[in-house]
Amino acid sequence: MPIDIRPVSDDEFIDFARVDFAAFGGKVDDRVLDSHRPVFEADRSLAAFEGDRLVGTAGSFSFEVTLPGLASVPAAAVSYVGVLPTHRRRGVLSALMRCQLDDVRRRGEPLAVLTASEAGIYGRFGYGPATYTAEYELRRREARLGDDARAEGVELVEGGAVPGLVAGAYESYRRAQVGEVSRTEGWWRTSVEAIQPWADQDGSRFFVVHRRGGEVDGYASYRFRDEWTDSMPDAQLTVSDLWATNPQAEAALVSYLLSIDLVAKVKLEGRPVEDPLRWRLVDGRQLRTRRVADHLWCRPVDAAAALAARRYRAEGELCLEIRDELCPWNEGHLVVEGGPDGASCRYEKSCPADLALGPAELGSVLLGGVRPSSLARAGRLAELRPGALARADLMLGSDPAPWCGTEF
Ligand SMILES: CC(C)(COP(=O)(O)OP(=O)(O)OC[C@H]1O[C@@H](n2cnc3c(N)ncnc32)[C@H](O)[C@@H]1OP(=O)(O)O)[C@@H](O)C(=O)NCCC(=O)NCCS
Repeated sequence: MPIDIRPVSDDEFIDFARVDFAAFGGKVDDRVLDSHRPVFEADRSLAAFEGDRLVGTAGSFSFEVTLPGLASVPAAAVSYVGVLPTHRRRGVLSALMRCQLDDVRRRGEPLAVLTASEAGIYGRFGYGPATYTAEYELRRREARLGDDARAEGVELVEGGAVPGLVAGAYESYRRAQVGEVSRTEGWWRTSVEAIQPWADQDGSRFFVVHRRGGEVDGYASYRFRDEWTDSMPDAQLTVSDLWATNPQAEAALVSYLLSIDLVAKVKLEGRPVEDPLRWRLVDGRQLRTRRVADHLWCRPVDAAAALAARRYRAEGELCLEIRDELCPWNEGHLVVEGGPDGASCRYEKSCPADLALGPAELGSVLLGGVRPSSLARAGRLAELRPGALARADLMLGSDPAPWCGTEF
């Protein structure tokens, strides 16, 4: 039977979410699904139907991404990607991805971004990993902070109050953090209010803000899992979101998170690979790295617009030969002229190309955290003129490294 693809309406959300949860192996009741509704943007959804049976889903959120130079561009934040186990490897995802890229282009959004369940899925659709994330563990009683940061100005708040309290501060924070995405009001509500089917195993959730002069300038959310061993407290704290607009607020939040009685182990999820926390500790090895993995994948949908929107670490010019079967409008010799103050892009057939690359490689280097020379060494990108790679490394790199701490 042929597969038809169309957006679903708000009324069809439960069916849509049920298929997506089922694709991830979750069977949950409608109340749980309904609690995930606030983040849903029906007009950005795509569902694959076999007859009137919904068998696959894809959707996106209307986010922005902060680029090197701190310009911010609209991006489709792709999510809800799933195909029922009964309908896999028949091209359903491929059809959804094609429709979605055309839709993103129609919307005039230069980028699509996502976080991947498996790293082997999205390269073929032109997505490349652009930021990396780390997970750490600390034994709380052995982790001493070296500075005189104290947990002052930290306040426990109710989940329902979080979106209203922190959205403004978060927006300032993310506009100053290359690689970070904006969070819609719906994202905030779902993040703090949605019923998570696995909540009981992970413990109770808490939310804290940091204030300076009455204004919120930092935030953390964590789960507390109660545990006792040989009559002694052995609880685990799992921190899943932690950011601040300034280092003092971040220090105060970290100091608080490491000061909670009854906790033996603190797990930090979704942190930067170069976490300043390592340098705050008297003994940096206490920050044990448990996992480093790709996080934000980036797909240039309008390559010229994306490259013109960012800034470059050094003045220069690069001619990129882009091959892009899925988004053929990106193909050609694209000349990028840029520097720290601005950039422009134009297609010029006669310009001799410096580098040849595909959309996934362009997506990886776009935020400045992956060096073109690393991709060239792996045969993923070709240097066509001597010296071009070194120039590309210099121009495209970002200091500090891009980081995205948002789950979506
Ligand atoms: C990942 C998933 C959406 C793929 O859907 P699908 O309809 O089977 O994909 P398609 O049939 O369109 O496959 C397209 C190509 O991707 C490949 N592919 C699909 N899933 C893959 C995976 N998990 N890992 C590696 N390659 C994969 C296929 O082999 C095919 O390759 P080909 O073009 O060389 O033949 C589906 O397996 C699924 O729902 N998985 C569980 C939920 C999940 O992980 N979702 C992704 C969230 S980020």
